[in-house]
Amino acid sequence: MLWGVGTSSYQVEGNIDHADWSRFERTITPGFQGAGKACEHYLHALDDIRQVAALGLNAYRFSVEWSRIEPAPGATDQAALAHYRQMVDTARNCGLEPVVTLHHFTLPKWLEAEGGVLSPNFTTHFARLCKVVGSALDATWWVTINEPMVLAVMGYLLGEWPPGRRSLTEVNRVGRALARAHRQAFQILHQIDPARRVGVAKHLTRIWPHRPHHLMDQLGSRLQDAVFNQYFYQWTAGTHDFLGVNFYARSYARGLTQVRRSRPGERLSQMGWVTDSADLAAVLSWLKPMGLPVLITENGIATLDEDLRCDYLRSHVRVLLEARQQGLDVAGYLYWTLWDNFEWREGWGPAFGLCPPPSAGQRFSWRPAARLLAQLCANDGAELLGPHA
Ligand code: BGC
Repeated sequence: MLWGVGTSSYQVEGNIDHADWSRFERTITPGFQGAGKACEHYLHALDDIRQVAALGLNAYRFSVEWSRIEPAPGATDQAALAHYRQMVDTARNCGLEPVVTLHHFTLPKWLEAEGGVLSPNFTTHFARLCKVVGSALDATWWVTINEPMVLAVMGYLLGEWPPGRRSLTEVNRVGRALARAHRQAFQILHQIDPARRVGVAKHLTRIWPHRPHHLMDQLGSRLQDAVFNQYFYQWTAGTHDFLGVNFYARSYARGLTQVRRSRPGERLSQMGWVTDSADLAAVLSWLKPMGLPVLITENGIATLDEDLRCDYLRSHVRVLLEARQQGLDVAGYLYWTLWDNFEWREGWGPAFGLCPPPSAGQRFSWRPAARLLAQLCANDGAELLGPHA
């Protein structure tokens, strides 16, 4: 089983100036601290990867930055491509299985200017990226798109992420466009090498009625579950080698369309989220009938309370391993994330990391949860399941 950690280019690499987010972050609030140099992962990637291996993990998920690889439509930056190729090769050479994400929220500015995901040429552009990257990188595990419906909702319904749109009809169009792009990427990556394992990192959340006995909240939870959790699987049926799952916290439906993150009095993470591993058990039970291996592509908590982070890690991994005991095909568990990093709209506050951000001379100050994850990797989680496992 894979035991690892994940990152995304924009959140950690630093000095990305040609992505839609590079433009958008300047419009958020005066003084908003953008990604900037981030964790300078682009400068130190190979050493960083060796450190992840030295910690004792066996997998590393990262994303390629489209705006670096293709600074202008159709023009490949060979140095950027070689950089990501070296990341994959280095990971392999030091015993880490690379899990490569092709699209993790950011688009090149030139594509944003053309209409982004809603550009009539989006699928063609994405297919070209898949061919270029898919042919250059010798990885087995591929995530085509990270959290398609989160991107659709944040960017096109709530307007909180680029391109800052607020339109109910566009959410649906974006979801479908991303589904088309995924289906095509699935074919392309398999044409290059049929042994590849290709999937999506799908955000899944259990959506409860905010007021448990209120009919509209009950209906809302069903409606939102369909839109947020289920439709994308229907649009992409037959094009997953594994089910990539980003699982964090629960949601609540208030009426048909409103979403709340908590009920009064609940304990919240730094993100204002309510976490309960029983919700992950429910999510895994939805996936089981699909009969595919499940890879937890993201799971983590934003907190500075390390006991809480370790409890979160233990309880969620335990649920995963119990599901495995009951017959779920579990491919792996990837904690989110390596360092506290640029958390999109929330900026630099939330501490999801196995380490604080790099500081002068010290790139990795491993927190207790990092050691715990390494220990789980060493014994394949056996300690969580007790003597009769
Ligand atoms: C995203 C990450 C993000 C994390 C925590 C996921 O939605 O894929 O980029 O940092 O959640 O909010």
